[in-house]
Amino acid sequence: MKKKFRIKTFGCQMNVHDSEKIAGIFADSGYEESEKGRRPDVIVLNTCSIREKAEQKFYSDLGRLKSAKRDNPELKIAVAGCIAQQAGEKIMKKFPHVDYIFGPNNIDKLQNWIDGNSSKSSIEDNPLYHTQDLPMKREGGVKAWVSIMYGCDNFCAYCIVPYTRGRERSRPHEQIISEVNNVVEAGCKEITLLGQNVNSYGKGMQDNVNFPALLQRIHDSTSIERIRFVTSHPKDLSDELIEVMRAFPRVCEHMHLPLQAGSDKVLALMNRAYTYQEYKDKVEKLRDAIPGVAVTSDIIAGFPGETDDDFRFTMKALEEIRFDGIFSFKYSKRPGTRALDLPDHIDEEVKSERLSEILRLQEVVSAQKNKEIEGDIVEILVEGCSGADTEKLTGRTRTNKIVNYSGDKSDVGKLIKVRILESRQYSLNGEKL
Ligand code: SAH
Ligand code: SF4
Ligand code: F3S
Repeated sequence: MKKKFRIKTFGCQMNVHDSEKIAGIFADSGYEESEKGRRPDVIVLNTCSIREKAEQKFYSDLGRLKSAKRDNPELKIAVAGCIAQQAGEKIMKKFPHVDYIFGPNNIDKLQNWIDGNSSKSSIEDNPLYHTQDLPMKREGGVKAWVSIMYGCDNFCAYCIVPYTRGRERSRPHEQIISEVNNVVEAGCKEITLLGQNVNSYGKGMQDNVNFPALLQRIHDSTSIERIRFVTSHPKDLSDELIEVMRAFPRVCEHMHLPLQAGSDKVLALMNRAYTYQEYKDKVEKLRDAIPGVAVTSDIIAGFPGETDDDFRFTMKALEEIRFDGIFSFKYSKRPGTRALDLPDHIDEEVKSERLSEILRLQEVVSAQKNKEIEGDIVEILVEGCSGADTEKLTGRTRTNKIVNYSGDKSDVGKLIKVRILESRQYSLNGEKL
């Protein structure tokens, strides 16, 4: 009987995609994914340390696994991801039931451990990682993630990512193109290019292919039908990128462009390298060039030093820009980051109040935005059945909004036209044309 593995993933799309690589290595070694309710031979926790809550969640899961190991001493437990990278062997000392630790830059080393040829941890920063092709067990279906760069050099004052993912490295464009061609071959219709700051793709590479040029090449040398990308950093959003989005029909009309705060003072403390006005001008340019483009964002509530007045600037920004959607978080202290040493940390209670004020306002704005497209005819890529109701299918618009409609399963994987009938808080109802 084949050995079974199970992966539990926390955190961002990059981690979800890393889990596909981890699964690929297990599958290559003759393992298969364990079904729900069955006991796996190996459990991998692929961790995230972006905020304290994410970290606590992991530690409580890990604590619970202690008894699983007591029941089955043969069970192997591996810890991957950003917490593994930061805490390293400290995890092993505190939790002796962990068998192996590997960081996001060392996924290629997992094979050695599976083969029994590895020590208990692989957490060094491996600058060669980005030039390798790893096997991959994609979640399948009509969409695929493709990494184009690793790491981050921006050192936003609150953020742990540059410490866990290491320095920014771009992947050679030939490799990216060949991966896109492979996923097209496998039946994928849409790719999402992944990087912490895709706009700075190509920095430090010899061949002068920057991010707009990469999009152009993917457009010209592959037949993928939809191209998306995350995440864009406002400081690196260029006119050239806007032009490529406008001119190349397979690049989707959506940009996730984290603003973080509306106050210039707070933006400077965060080390974001743009002012609110600069941000707003870029969004205006984007909207002028690409009618109907969706803009989404991330907002942090209660960064150290954020006064009530600063917070009002964030609220004003949400009203002025009117994002299609946002992710918003209370500021969370992260070990080793510069914001820790800033004066005037904000009370938890105030952070919570600010966060709920942000969310309340955005709920109204998102609802209005969705209302505006009622009656419109849009293209969706049908992804599958919508939950339990097999009569209902679900897909996404080019602007990344979810649309549910009644139709036949044979639509899955197709680009179809629907009319938007009614908007809901987090999705739209449509009818197939
Ligand atoms: N590379 C992307 C996303 C990084 S993490 C970018 O630059 O935008 C995703 C989001 O988590 C960030 O945009 C930020 O809003 C939030 N975040 C990161 N560190 C945080 C912290 N310490 N506390 C609260 N939110 C944080
Ligand atoms: Fe973190 Fe800033 Fe890098 Fe994004 S750009 S990963 S927020 S340091
Ligand atoms: Fe979390 Fe690491 Fe992603 S900290 S958000 S898993 S880059």
